[in-house]
Amino acid sequence: MNLVRSLVVLALVAAALALAVYRLNHLDEGHVAASAASGGSDAVERGRYLVTAGDCIACHTAMGGAAFAGGRPIDTPFGTVYSTNITPDMATGLGAWSRADFWRALHNGRSRDGRFLYPAFPYPSFTRITREDADAMYDYLRTVAPVARANAPQALRFPYNLQVSLAIWRALFFRPGVFQPDANQDAEWNRGVYLVQGLAHCNACHASRNVFGAVNHTLDLGGGLIPMQNWYAPPLISKVGAGVAAWQPGDIEALLHTGVSPRATAMGPMAEVVFRSAQFLAPADVRAIARYLHSFAPAEPTAPTPAANVDPRQVAQGAAIYQDHCAQCHGDRGEGAYPAYPALAGNPSATQGLAANAIKAVLNGGYAPVTAGNPRPYGMPPFFNTLRDAEIAAVLTYIRTSWGNAGTPVSTVDVERFR
Ligand code: HEC
Ligand code: HEC
Ligand code: HEC
Repeated sequence: MNLVRSLVVLALVAAALALAVYRLNHLDEGHVAASAASGGSDAVERGRYLVTAGDCIACHTAMGGAAFAGGRPIDTPFGTVYSTNITPDMATGLGAWSRADFWRALHNGRSRDGRFLYPAFPYPSFTRITREDADAMYDYLRTVAPVARANAPQALRFPYNLQVSLAIWRALFFRPGVFQPDANQDAEWNRGVYLVQGLAHCNACHASRNVFGAVNHTLDLGGGLIPMQNWYAPPLISKVGAGVAAWQPGDIEALLHTGVSPRATAMGPMAEVVFRSAQFLAPADVRAIARYLHSFAPAEPTAPTPAANVDPRQVAQGAAIYQDHCAQCHGDRGEGAYPAYPALAGNPSATQGLAANAIKAVLNGGYAPVTAGNPRPYGMPPFFNTLRDAEIAAVLTYIRTSWGNAGTPVSTVDVERFR
């Protein structure tokens, strides 16, 4: 008898869960009116701008492939997701899609045939985009050259490749919803939220993620390791640890528009964001982003807590290496030479909890992105051949604990991880 009762209860619970998953996946917020008849050249021009601000081209273009024709692999902890063809090709792209289909993809994360899309496509951010903006983007994308290129099959591992897994994931972590302005804030601040959390999807990289890969939208832009390339995207508006919020708004604007700022230089995935998207943002939009982020600056600048457990011999070794290999560009006291060489004193790479970016910079070198505001960026030479892991650990420990930097020491094992 007891067993039968337990089975009945289990069956009821399972049915209730299935119903909840179904309902949560069919939350469509009623009907959202499309904007007026398909746009004239103004709407197309606006659409082009919005598509640039959303950096659609970055993911939807394969290395060496045609613009927007898809096929770029995106590595996730769950397998590889390939971006799709969003040119207006009839057979392989969005040629047969209506504005409503396009809106549903951005807003609800569903393909034209109803398939749940993988959130490697950042629709948890894009759901905040307004219908008007989605329509303008659609109008612009109708004007790009159609390219016949069939979509690659997705390559996620079991059980992540199942639609039912995605349905459960979505029920737990995804709520469709257009951005609602905060009435207690002005238009510029609200525009900043719309861009950071929506269209420009800064939170897709800069927010922390849970073990299921879901962005924590409710908390803050707490920063996180981007799994695909092991870069660390620092917190933008975290209240614990000042993060970028404490920068002067002008410095945030400079970084987005030119790729260099007195506080840091854009590297890796951030250099790509600046190169393809942020540098083209209208000055008012960049101002809105900086204004929104800076509104989270702590009222009192928090005094850095000096790092504990620093081995003085490692620091001394690091100081000597720094003088030999680094000071000629970054300065005797890490002051840098803006805009050519970034300061290392106060640089997020030298203060944030994870030294990942600093280690990658020293191992691989690199260039700030080429932008209209900084057309001939200076480079950082790679040191993977010149310095041993222990030496890189020492020089970074020196940088991260000198000139007011309160970063943590770096060990040889830390460096090995990124070789
Ligand atoms: C971070 C990478 C990334 C960015 C940025 C991105 N996409 Fe995508 N997009 C993807 C991936 C990956 C898929 C495929 C998801 C799938 O098949 O489940 C996709 C799918 C889509 C689809 C559905 C296509 C189909 O055949 O079902 C549309 C429409 C789309 N993206 C439009 C856009 C637009 C418009 C933008 C810019 C506002 C954009 N994407 C930005 C990665 C991205
Ligand atoms: C594709 C992932 C990605 C996206 C999208 C992204 N960022 Fe970043 N961002 C990073 C990474 C990784 C770093 C750390 C590398 C570095 O230091 O440049 C970074 C660094 C930064 C920094 C600190 C500068 C520095 O060099 O340390 C700022 C400010 C910033 N991002 C702002 C933004 C804003 C604003 C947006 C949205 C418009 C955005 N990011 C979108 C990945 C991203
Ligand atoms: C020839 C000049 C030069 C030398 C020598 C040099 N750097 Fe750099 N460094 C740069 C430039 C330019 C950048 C910005 C590159 C980029 O954005 O990819 C940079 C970036 C960095 C960064 C990342 C900071 C940021 O904001 O992006 C770190 C950390 C760093 N260097 C440390 C070092 C260390 C440690 C050494 C010595 C072992 C060194 N550099 C030697 C020019 C130099």
